[in-house]
Amino acid sequence: MLDPKSDTHRPHGSADAVASLPLGHVVADGGTQARASIHVSTVSEYADAMRSGTRFPLITVYFDGEHYFLADGFHRLAAARVAGLEEIPVEVRQGTKRDAILHAVGANAAHGLPRTNQDKRWSVEMLLNDPEWRQWSSNAIAKACQVSHQLVDDVRRSLVAQTSEASPTRVFVTKHGTVSSMDVARIGKGKSRQRSAATLYYEKEGIQLYCGDAREIVPTLPASVVVTDPPYNVGTMYDGYGDNLAREDYVALLRQTCGPPCCLVHYPEDLCDLAGELNLGHMTQAVAWVTNSNLPRQWRMVAWFGVEPLLARETQDYKNPQDRRIRARIAAGCRARGYDWWQVHPVKHGAAERVQHPCQLPLEVARRIVNITPGETILDPFAGSGTTLVAAKELGRRAIGIELSERYCALAVKRLDATSSSERASDGGVPECRACEEDTTRSADSGKAVESVMGSVSASAPGTEQSHPMTITAAGAMER
Ligand SMILES: C[S@@+](CC[C@H](N)C(=O)[O-])C[C@H]1O[C@@H](n2cnc3c(N)ncnc32)[C@H](O)[C@@H]1O
Repeated sequence: MLDPKSDTHRPHGSADAVASLPLGHVVADGGTQARASIHVSTVSEYADAMRSGTRFPLITVYFDGEHYFLADGFHRLAAARVAGLEEIPVEVRQGTKRDAILHAVGANAAHGLPRTNQDKRWSVEMLLNDPEWRQWSSNAIAKACQVSHQLVDDVRRSLVAQTSEASPTRVFVTKHGTVSSMDVARIGKGKSRQRSAATLYYEKEGIQLYCGDAREIVPTLPASVVVTDPPYNVGTMYDGYGDNLAREDYVALLRQTCGPPCCLVHYPEDLCDLAGELNLGHMTQAVAWVTNSNLPRQWRMVAWFGVEPLLARETQDYKNPQDRRIRARIAAGCRARGYDWWQVHPVKHGAAERVQHPCQLPLEVARRIVNITPGETILDPFAGSGTTLVAAKELGRRAIGIELSERYCALAVKRLDATSSSERASDGGVPECRACEEDTTRSADSGKAVESVMGSVSASAPGTEQSHPMTITAAGAMER
């Protein structure tokens, strides 16, 4: 491996050496990514080409004596990871992380995967969010980012507007296109500073996980069916997300991430309101996920829009096993079709599947949803600890998750690595089941069948199923 320290000194910024670096030595998450997001399809294409021996241009890194900061080649590096390579050829330049950022903001202007408008805007924001670079003239920033002077002015104005909203002190853009020196302390502390560029955090066996803001990543992804339990906006304490947006911001968050076809899990009243506000269209099916509790607000609605779930593909034990005809069916190896109410315990402290996430969906609920929801790829824009992805992996489905918190992403990866994948299903991803053709809960003498079902619900609480007391958070959210 190259030791750049041993090289004779070269002028700053020029290529000092060419070497092959282990992938793990390249720092891609050090804040030098100047694209708004990584394009999954490009990474897959590059990875295929790498596997078949295609040679790619060198990626560029800046070495500060300790770290190799990636400045150009984020897609190539991600592809090398996906392709399972151990090393990657690099062009090493001597320089700091800031040198890498300055290189990155102008990279790909003339070569490589063309930048989107969002990428260009992101580059400009990176410089305008920096206390030193924001003092540069718009022309200088435009030159560094290889964009128009007009774009820099536009972005600068929108950042100043955000800053002015948040600060009692007035800030303004001078006629030279720079920000006046009068109280610029708030610049960069607005919304855009808190965003981080998307990182493809995990990719294995048809499952991908992005760490970043779903609002930015979802528009760059291929068409998928959304399966998610979004934040409920009830003040749950997540890692780095407050869960208490103004109603319009909450609706905007879901509108940007959860369009049909989709399956959403939420409080029933909220979901009915949201269906209208998000323009989700006709609800094709609703299932009640009920828990074993004496407290109010302990059921969630699982609702599908723009996609027809194959409810009958989930089977379950008959509720009337003593019925003569049902006994015959059981003897023939049949099971009842899945009902439209699922009794599943929330994930309590001490439960085997519990991880350090405040609002984990039970794997059983995620598994049932994924099992009956057709579609090539499942997308969970609010992946949390990765329950949907784990269910998808178990069932051999393709899935993409997005999660804001890196800590939760790490939990998800741990769970995914501990999950074994089944054979990939071919029929739109939905495997066959063993339910009888007929809806047997109704085929039995109807009066007796209803009685039998109701009886089994009330009887199951104390005896046949383990009873867990619910925990209610301050905001009344069911802890799961
Ligand atoms: C209800 S939890 C999902 C729980 C998940 N189903 C599980 O079983 O772990 C919602 C998640 O959305 C994440 N989140 C909030 N805003 C986000 C955003 N803009 N982009 C991506 N994730 C976000 C939160 O960090 C939280 O982990």
